[in-house]
Amino acid sequence: MHMIYGNRVVRREDVRISPLDRGYYFGDGVYEVIRVYAGRLFEADAHFRRLARSAEGIGLKPPIATNELRGLIDRLLALDGVTDGTVYLQMTRGVAPRTHAFPSAAEPVVVGWADPYERPVAAMEQGVRVVTVADIRWLRCDLKTLNLLPNVLARQQAVERGAAEAVLHRDGVVTEASAANVMIVKNGIIRTHPADHRILRGVTRDVVLRLACGLGIAAEETPFTVDELYAADEAFLTGTTVEIMPIVEADGRPIGDGRPGPVVRRLQRAFAELLPET
Ligand code: PDD
Repeated sequence: MHMIYGNRVVRREDVRISPLDRGYYFGDGVYEVIRVYAGRLFEADAHFRRLARSAEGIGLKPPIATNELRGLIDRLLALDGVTDGTVYLQMTRGVAPRTHAFPSAAEPVVVGWADPYERPVAAMEQGVRVVTVADIRWLRCDLKTLNLLPNVLARQQAVERGAAEAVLHRDGVVTEASAANVMIVKNGIIRTHPADHRILRGVTRDVVLRLACGLGIAAEETPFTVDELYAADEAFLTGTTVEIMPIVEADGRPIGDGRPGPVVRRLQRAFAELLPET
């Protein structure tokens, strides 16, 4: 198995990460997760645009051009034989003595790897349970940074309560989930939190909003509350790993009739048509 390491692809055991990397002790870095379907990156341009935006948002100058990075990913996928999976990319500010302000001489460190991953077909068919958890994150959730401890703790709460995902809320207003965006359907209209600093603007979220538009399903980027989630006709998660995942229960209450509804089904079908033939 291999890894992207700087501007090379090397064997995983040849990667040398220093404990003095600021990513390690400050979480000072950004990342992306990209899906690979039939050997092709899904929505690659959108992911690379967001990576550049996240890096810029924390004042990190990428040490590698996007084209070069894409070339490395192609090599990585070929070497590890990953045709259906995920690519994880991470850029940290680099190795420096531990002082908070940016170091003058650190070189950003880029790593990346690919893992096989299968579409979560059964869960997408049956839907998943979620719990709601207070969103205690900072106010730059629009940047995909490594500081995921609140997300980790929220997801852990979900798992301990027998749910697949934690839906986050600020004072009762649903923002997103620990690793996905959240949408509800009420009276045929999709609603999802606006793409401001409180949420990550998901690549899948954008795809779904485009699909909805094409299918003639109205969609509004307006916030909704936890109570509106409980009372929704349908609800679903969107994300690189979960794709379009129906939510059938929130905090033990069934959503709609407790089964994936017609809007989410239509969106799932339309999404599947975007994927390359396998
Ligand atoms: N997370 N919101 C958060 C907080 C996320 O971490 C993610 C994805 C999303 C969905 O974004 P996208 O559709 O671009 O994947 C929304 C990745 C998969 C992760 O951290 O594993």
